[in-house]
Amino acid sequence: MTAAAPGRRPGPVTVRVPAKVNVQLAVGGRRPDGFHDLANVFLAVGLYDEVTATPADTLTLTCSGPDADQVPLDASNLAARAATALAARHGLEPRVHLHIAKDIPVAGGMAGGSADAAAALLACDTLWGTHTSRDELLALCAELGSDVPFSLVGGAALGRGRGELLEPLPVGGTFHWVFAVADGGLSTPAVYKECDRLRDATGQGATTADIPDPEPSPALLAALRTGDPAALAAALDNDLQPAALSLRPSLAATLTAGTAAGALAALVSGSGPTTAFLAATPEDADRIATTLRTSGTCRTARPTTGPAPGATVVSGA
Ligand code: C5P
Repeated sequence: MTAAAPGRRPGPVTVRVPAKVNVQLAVGGRRPDGFHDLANVFLAVGLYDEVTATPADTLTLTCSGPDADQVPLDASNLAARAATALAARHGLEPRVHLHIAKDIPVAGGMAGGSADAAAALLACDTLWGTHTSRDELLALCAELGSDVPFSLVGGAALGRGRGELLEPLPVGGTFHWVFAVADGGLSTPAVYKECDRLRDATGQGATTADIPDPEPSPALLAALRTGDPAALAAALDNDLQPAALSLRPSLAATLTAGTAAGALAALVSGSGPTTAFLAATPEDADRIATTLRTSGTCRTARPTTGPAPGATVVSGA
């Protein structure tokens, strides 16, 4: 195998990639393959990781940022798996060093690992000059994880299937958010398992035969389309929230603190434990973040906006 394709970029390539919040996460029953069909309305938000790809003799990984010690730096890291998958697709060895500058909460329900995988794919494709088509990149993303295609695309999108089949959604304005970061992460498989357990325990059953097919909310899609924060607040919905609260009961206090501080609505972000607060204005978002930071119910709170663009090459292209 060659070190890289002809025409590869000589220098480092840096890709910036956003976090996401699920403004609707409707979870169907457990499928025979263990996954759940979703109606998953993703919104990319302005917390970003950056992944820098530099030519190297072998695949190596480093990470910086406040939570860097929680990021695995071996072959199990989704960014490393992305580089390996792209190299294999083109008959190359993954001779690359990946550095992740991490600002997205780790194991926080904001798709940080998925974001790094999408960023690594785009950075390596640019570095190696492999010119992978958008459709092929999206297919590789879907093989790596259910949320990875959305990290590449950004904006807002409806994810069907296990979340990987995307339909872009129009958004008619900028929404103001605060994200309260919890101490420690939650395991996504554990939260889905708890969702199944709670459904079984309440007699609903947990399989596709028991649970109605998940559908996107027309009111929610309209609120995104018109950019109306009050209407979006009324339609926010996360079927994983009871499971996340069951595994991490302390999140209830965070949700209450943000609501008391003036949020239009509060919900758990994806599988948690990050919690998300929708604000009416940027000033409200700043005030809610300040209040949450001193509430003793979270580690920190970050105001930001959505939608945000998907994975983007910011230097070295
Ligand atoms: O696709 P990804 O690797 O991110 O999924 C992680 C885990 O989350 C899966 O192994 C599964 O337990 C759960 N999951 C699910 N249904 C989905 C997406 C994820 O059950 N649609």
